[in-house]
Amino acid sequence: MPGRTKAFVKSYGCQMNVYDAERMTDLLAGRGYGEAGSEDDADLVVLNTCHIREKATEKVYSELGRLARLKAERGAEGRDFRIVVAGCVAQAEGVEVLRRQRAVDLVIGPQSYHRLGELLTRAEAGERVAETDFAVAEKFQALRGAPIPRGVAAFVTAQEGCDKFCSFCVVPYTRGGEVSRPVAEIVAEAAALAAAGVREITIIGQNVNAYRGVAETGAPSSLPRLLERLSCIEGVTRLRYTTSHPIDMDQELIDAHASLPMLAPFVHLPVQSGSNRILKAMNRRHDADFYSDIVERLRAARPDIALSSDFIVGFPGETEADFEATLALVRETRFASSFSFKYSPRPGTPGAERDDQIAEAAKTERLAILQALLEEQRQAFNAATVGRTVEVLFEKPGRHEGQIAGKSPYMQAVHVTGGSELIGSLLPVTILAAGSNSLAGRIGGPMREAAL
Ligand code: 5AD
Ligand code: SF4
Repeated sequence: MPGRTKAFVKSYGCQMNVYDAERMTDLLAGRGYGEAGSEDDADLVVLNTCHIREKATEKVYSELGRLARLKAERGAEGRDFRIVVAGCVAQAEGVEVLRRQRAVDLVIGPQSYHRLGELLTRAEAGERVAETDFAVAEKFQALRGAPIPRGVAAFVTAQEGCDKFCSFCVVPYTRGGEVSRPVAEIVAEAAALAAAGVREITIIGQNVNAYRGVAETGAPSSLPRLLERLSCIEGVTRLRYTTSHPIDMDQELIDAHASLPMLAPFVHLPVQSGSNRILKAMNRRHDADFYSDIVERLRAARPDIALSSDFIVGFPGETEADFEATLALVRETRFASSFSFKYSPRPGTPGAERDDQIAEAAKTERLAILQALLEEQRQAFNAATVGRTVEVLFEKPGRHEGQIAGKSPYMQAVHVTGGSELIGSLLPVTILAAGSNSLAGRIGGPMREAAL
């Protein structure tokens, strides 16, 4: 008797992919697939891919080579093994994935994966399908059932796609234009998660602060109004949102950081560069001063707010002076944590067409300098948390017996002495020490406002 069939969904890239991977796992559970711990005990593997940088895309094909060998071994044993490619590489390359790797059974894009079950049935009948429709509204409709919660913190999609067309970015091509989910659907999903024990909801979208979903009144709602609605759901104790574009960071959203205490005082606000010339070439539609002004207003609204950002070094035409301007913006702003990347030319984007590409060696050198500065700021921020009392949402048992671990409002891992009955609680914790990747604290202590 063969055991229950199992699926393994492996995800790369952004939070949106994490969310999609979980929804695909839910869909597969509905078709009788259990969750496999790895490829080795799976009968079906879904690679949920990322196309944002060349390296991420290359990884997919080497991973597929490995899975093809596994499939051949299984075949020799007379066992089925199916390979599905989902995510942004599936969208960008479509049928090309089927051509390049014969072992792939199904290619399914991020805006059509709600049809995974039906397309798998076709794949099982021997058809090799590449589905890359942009059926976002249909997808939202199809995914309306309550998701299966995994832990006390969950993502809920509010918005997908991007209309900004930054000249380095593939997202507007792989995810399509901006589409917002109706308020009622988001609230229903969040309420179902909260009823099942979820305490922290992160509202996600490629441009989440451009959210304009229709409310029950028929009028469009903004992100701050959506957050206010979500704050009234029984059981929800903390809210976050990501990722935001500076040009959609309006005063209403900034004010929400003052008026909604459960909104975490932490904003991920990618700036990409500190040079006005490069920001213009990137088609970012804002300059460095515009960004600094938002930061100032966020800090005025909520003095304990902290920021994180994304940076790209070595965009075509970037001079030493442009790079210095990025370092100056970082020094002036002070970030709690950040992501930084070497520019990677992506096919079909305007940046890739430019003939003033930067040499790899210069990109490597600039990235090392920037990352050293960002790391110094991250450590300084962690050290400055020592002695403060911050709210920690406890998520899981700690590494050591008698410990539990959770997250501060600033996404820092915090561990304290405590029992697992506290998992799901949001409690004040006084931070006692900062390690390089986590903080140690004790439950309790007066909450005090500390200016950063
Ligand atoms: N090269 C390098 N980094 C990129 N990003 C997006 N496109 C590219 C690219 N072509 C980065 C941006 C974005 C983050 C998600 O990935 O910093 O904010
Ligand atoms: Fe890409 Fe720019 Fe859209 Fe962000 S805002 S997804 S970087 S095009």
